[in-house]
Amino acid sequence: MTQHTPERAFSDLDFAMMSRAIKLARRGIYTTAPNPNVGCVIVRDEEIVGEGYHHRAGEPHAEVHAMRMAGEKAVGATAYVTLEPCSHYGRTPPCAEGLIKAKVARVVCAMVDPNPKVAGRGIQMLRDAGIEVQIGLLEQDALALNPGFIKYMRTGMPFVQLKMAASLDGQSALSNGQSQWITSPAARQDVQRYRAMSGGILSTSKTVIDDNASLNVRWDDLPTSVQAQYLREELRQPVRVILDRQNHLTDALKLFHTDGERVIVSPDGDCIPLLDSADQIDLSTTLKRISDEHHINHLWVEAGATLASAMIKANLVDELIVYLAPKLMGSDGRGLIGALGLSAMADVIDLNITDVRMVGVDIRITATIKRNELR
Ligand SMILES: NC(=O)c1ccc[n+]([C@@H]2O[C@H](COP(=O)([O-])OP(=O)(O)OC[C@H]3O[C@@H](n4cnc5c(N)ncnc54)[C@H](OP(=O)(O)O)[C@@H]3O)[C@@H](O)[C@H]2O)c1
Repeated sequence: MTQHTPERAFSDLDFAMMSRAIKLARRGIYTTAPNPNVGCVIVRDEEIVGEGYHHRAGEPHAEVHAMRMAGEKAVGATAYVTLEPCSHYGRTPPCAEGLIKAKVARVVCAMVDPNPKVAGRGIQMLRDAGIEVQIGLLEQDALALNPGFIKYMRTGMPFVQLKMAASLDGQSALSNGQSQWITSPAARQDVQRYRAMSGGILSTSKTVIDDNASLNVRWDDLPTSVQAQYLREELRQPVRVILDRQNHLTDALKLFHTDGERVIVSPDGDCIPLLDSADQIDLSTTLKRISDEHHINHLWVEAGATLASAMIKANLVDELIVYLAPKLMGSDGRGLIGALGLSAMADVIDLNITDVRMVGVDIRITATIKRNELR
């Protein structure tokens, strides 16, 4: 029913228009969570007659913006959409129905919607109405737009990015615990950007207390390139989830006096922790609960080496974001990741490095975990 169309079946115009739709979709990356980023371009006689993107949950979908702009010109046109048009009544009516009413002749989707409420039904509705539908154009780019939405829809778990910062020799703090600041202001601005894209930030009472960390997004600390993409009043705060099994957090901490929702995982907090066999918070269940109950499908983790190793051991990390500063701190410092209990090279955690770039004077490495047999 939803078979992909071979790429050779698409024209240069098709590629150009879907690229435009993907670019438009990206405009929503700081505002749409937990909804997906979606872009749409409507083309008639090789001319763009309508375009739009999804701004935020509860507001019109990308196709609606594009159809409003196109008006009568949508008749007989081709609609390029980065995600399959929806088929269900949510906070807005189904976009597939809208495209049928607008009498478009052809719809090109970059990918099928992984939402089980849609999952090919939007495409079927269009085809049943006699509209030609093609699927799979620039699919990899479309997948990259929404890692959180896609992972949550497919698995029920959030997409998890683990942030770490260290000296070039891999130390995250001195032996006396001092760690502020290892990285440059540019790297810290980059962290603000990642926080702004996420739906939630996970940390521990240990890190919150040691650093008196606010763990929120501060408009003035965002890179100017990000400030140019949306408005200060549109700033969305991720939900801050703090693991505090032993009720160590106190009201005086900045965490309680800064913008943004908090979820405290503690015996006296908002979420009562479930403990594992080692009497630690069961991370997998906690992630599932906070993503279901607080609509977090994209989680940014900012904590110390102990939580980092626990998350990796539990196989909960999708991507590592590592900042390496041009500094040497010596082997008497503290490592980037806590103990993993490995005794054979065959068991080390293999990574795929997917991106390396300079951020100010620091190096930022993005990596995924290739193989994690510690689970
Ligand atoms: N370099 C960086 O990128 C970076 C980023 C953030 C923080 N930091 C630094 O990291 C330091 C803290 O590091 P840390 O390693 O001592 O602490 P951490 O990793 O922030 O937190 C460790 C604590 O998390 C709790 N925890 C909850 N569930 C857990 C589980 N399943 N497994 C293990 N622990 C669990 C435990 O506290 P309970 O026993 O009370 O449950 C544990 O002691 C801070 O000083 C901060 O400055 C560095």
